[in-house]
Amino acid sequence: AIMSLSNAHHISKEEWESHNKMLLEPLAVNDSEVFSIIKKEKHRQTYGLELIASENFASRAVLEALGSCMNNKYSEGYPGQRYYGGTEHIDELERLCQKRALEAYSLDSEKWGVNVQPYSGSPANFAVYTAVVEPHGRIMGLDLPDGGHLTHGFMTEKKKISATSIFFESMPYKVHPETGYIDYDRLQENARLFHPKLIIAGTSCYSRNLDYARLKQIANENGAYLMGDMAHISGLVAAGVVPSPFEHCDIVTTTTHKTLRGCRAGLIFYRKGVQNVDAKGKETLYNLESLINQAVFPGLQGGPHNHAIAGVAVALKQAMTPEFKAYQLQVLANCRALSSALIDHGYKIVTGGSDNHLILLDLRSKGTDGGRAEKVLEACAIACNKNTCPGDKSALRPSGLRFGSPALTSRGLVENDFRKVAEFIHRGIELTVEVQKSLDPKATLKAFVQALSQVEKFQQRVAEIRVEVEAFAGQFPMPGLPEL
Ligand SMILES: *Cc1c(COP(=O)(O)O)cnc(C)c1O
Ligand SMILES: *[C@@H]1O[C@H](CO)[C@@H](O)[C@H](O)[C@H]1NC(C)=O
Repeated sequence: AIMSLSNAHHISKEEWESHNKMLLEPLAVNDSEVFSIIKKEKHRQTYGLELIASENFASRAVLEALGSCMNNKYSEGYPGQRYYGGTEHIDELERLCQKRALEAYSLDSEKWGVNVQPYSGSPANFAVYTAVVEPHGRIMGLDLPDGGHLTHGFMTEKKKISATSIFFESMPYKVHPETGYIDYDRLQENARLFHPKLIIAGTSCYSRNLDYARLKQIANENGAYLMGDMAHISGLVAAGVVPSPFEHCDIVTTTTHKTLRGCRAGLIFYRKGVQNVDAKGKETLYNLESLINQAVFPGLQGGPHNHAIAGVAVALKQAMTPEFKAYQLQVLANCRALSSALIDHGYKIVTGGSDNHLILLDLRSKGTDGGRAEKVLEACAIACNKNTCPGDKSALRPSGLRFGSPALTSRGLVENDFRKVAEFIHRGIELTVEVQKSLDPKATLKAFVQALSQVEKFQQRVAEIRVEVEAFAGQFPMPGLPEL
């Protein structure tokens, strides 16, 4: 006879009752270790200045949906065609999310469809490549050091880094090293030689609007698809405060947690219906819908993250309100205020300003670089990223800093507050320059960080700035769950 596993160890009544009780205990009670880490992170977010351009603070309603029982359900497949039972409410949720996604971007459901299942922006992009580009087929996206995203095909001379460059052939396009604007002429010349199957119109560190019409014309010349990746700007697009990629693109992907201010997930929009009509009046239809849906599931993913889909649906509803439009207008106004205040402090901004929610500060004229300034600002409770600037010789020593206004705008800051933020940044960079002057010009970043954290006068300066930053940031309300 086969001994059942439960016989191997006798479960006492008390043990079983304690197990059942455990499942009902609040986090703070059941896992004080994780709870206290979360509390520390909440404190960091509340008392720091969050200027990372890709980050935002999700609303309470979004986080409630994300933390709901929707986490528990498997539902491989699509509404109406699932591989699991018990999916009636999941179907209702996914259809609602799809409907809101199309509405939020004013899309006609006869002409556009949307897949709301991608786990995040990177898997959404890879699903598109898998759907429409054959293995080792050709892709052109903006190079990572020029403001593109890893998933657009990043590789170095020595190594293919992104899976996009491993499984497909990527030929990046660049910004002009002097102006910082995308060099569309070079892209056009190279596309004529390279004949890509897909061109990507999307950026992670580019402060100017894209010329989607020009990109579409280049794509058409080569019979390529144009994919918009609006990950950074999808909230601005929903609010109608920057040009929309939908007018010219065949496919549009996005994350949902950046300017859109939802939980972490991804979306893929694709065209449906008539693709073109030839001279004889014969219509060709898009076949993107089945290609993309099959690439997401079963091609690349298993069960959709239904809790995330619930959070995205809530965020999309919020994105259709007049309040959200006001928020995005304030995001733009704050970014301009930050940019012009930094220019007044004597800094150079790549392209001279911004059309969107982010700026790239060029530190080359200051005799320091992004890596060092980022460390000092972090010590002062100011969060931003180092980034390469157009014309940078080495990606290992990026000379810029990327700042974005979306997160702090969600906390209610307006233009005057951002001028104060610019002052804090300026003090942090002045300190960076001083620390660097105290060291050998060839000193490593490690030596720099050591000096910053060990030389008493530098520590004092950091502490002074940090106390003021924390007092300032602490005044503003924090979106999200009150406890966590
Ligand atoms: C952030 C970003 C992504 C990837 O999103 P993840 O959710 O981090 O995977 C893709 N494309 C662009 C342009 C991005 O900025
Ligand atoms: C919390 O969970 C653990 C198992 O991880 C369990 O043993 C314990 O009884 C629960 N309660 C407390 C207060 O730790």
